[in-house]
Amino acid sequence: MSGVDQSVSTVRSVKQRSAIGLAVIAAAMMFAGCAQNAPQDTFQPEGPNAQRIQNLQWPVFLIAGIVGVIVFGTIIFVLIKFRDRGQEMPKQTHGKPALEIALTILPAIILVGVGIPTVSTVFSLAKTSDTQCVVNVTGQQWWWEYEYPVQSCGGVDIAEPLVTSGELVLPVKTPVLLRITSNDVIHSFWIPKLNGKKDAVPGRVHSLRLQANQPGIYAGQCTEFCGLSHAYMRMEAVALDADGFKAWVDNQLEEYSPPAADTAAAEGQADFIAQCSRCRQVNGIQDSEGKPIISRPDLYVYSGAAPNLTNLMTRTNFAGASFNLLNDECNDRLWNAPPDEFTDLYLEGVTPECFDAVQLREWLRNAPAKKPMYADPTKLEPTDGKYRGMPDLGLTEDQIDKIVAYLTERK
Ligand code: CUA
Repeated sequence: MSGVDQSVSTVRSVKQRSAIGLAVIAAAMMFAGCAQNAPQDTFQPEGPNAQRIQNLQWPVFLIAGIVGVIVFGTIIFVLIKFRDRGQEMPKQTHGKPALEIALTILPAIILVGVGIPTVSTVFSLAKTSDTQCVVNVTGQQWWWEYEYPVQSCGGVDIAEPLVTSGELVLPVKTPVLLRITSNDVIHSFWIPKLNGKKDAVPGRVHSLRLQANQPGIYAGQCTEFCGLSHAYMRMEAVALDADGFKAWVDNQLEEYSPPAADTAAAEGQADFIAQCSRCRQVNGIQDSEGKPIISRPDLYVYSGAAPNLTNLMTRTNFAGASFNLLNDECNDRLWNAPPDEFTDLYLEGVTPECFDAVQLREWLRNAPAKKPMYADPTKLEPTDGKYRGMPDLGLTEDQIDKIVAYLTERK
């Protein structure tokens, strides 16, 4: 074999090897998307609107897939069959009317075939006239706030406005109207198993209909890049049976019960008032003179808002649904609970056996280290000295112990 031949075959085998390498990487990336138990799988609808999307996306993917296989197959066939081997230039021709007309009509038929069900699905997804409850949803950097106005929702009277965050609690089998907006930048609300996405835009209110077929917990996340902690802006929808939803509402609106005197929780309340209550509201909390304490995040936080902590321990997570309050075992049990057992399990809240204090303690020790929020005091100039998110409060371990003791009673 001559030197030239050898180098040509080396170039070929290098090319072949890199082509195989690329194919392996591409296949690995593709199959990495095939999780078995994926909580945010759009192909596992659990509510009517998600089912409508599913009914549309399957045939469309099927048609697109068939067209894709034909097109790519033809291209590969032509590339190989007619590649330049030094043969003569073929005779050039112009125009094949029959083929051209066929290749115009066929795509038009496919487009109409896809277009009609697409438009009708878009209209049926937009329908909100049948909703029975309203929840005002506000995107914040980087968490979601849910406000339930006074109303009768799924047969349950909500006698006072109710505010929560992280977990959107809904009565099961009840179409709920979400009125979605944002307090700062554009976010996007998405619970894939229940419906498609809806952008949260400052100054606008967008409607989204949410309904779950069965009691359970449904994961979602913000899907519009919204700043430093966009990846930590998660949310969950929780569907409870009718009795359970009533129990949840009644509990959320229950009067404040202060910690018993001379307990760590009582000392924690004092620390909470001194360190946290400027921004974090606990409804009903009073100062030593019996005056209600109203938080003023508008004075201290750039966004002017912070999550309400009144019933923190009825939720399973905190800080944009990013960190668990439940330990792994209890979290797994809740997420895998059969629908008929889910409601009772959720309403237990964070029990002492299930409470995992580690993440909450880390958060209190130095929140911006756990979730980036521009809370570095040296970078506060552009925000007029206000914090964007929760700053490092410099709490001592003793203060953290007591504040955690106080917060674990907020249920
Ligand atoms: Cu909010 Cu991304």
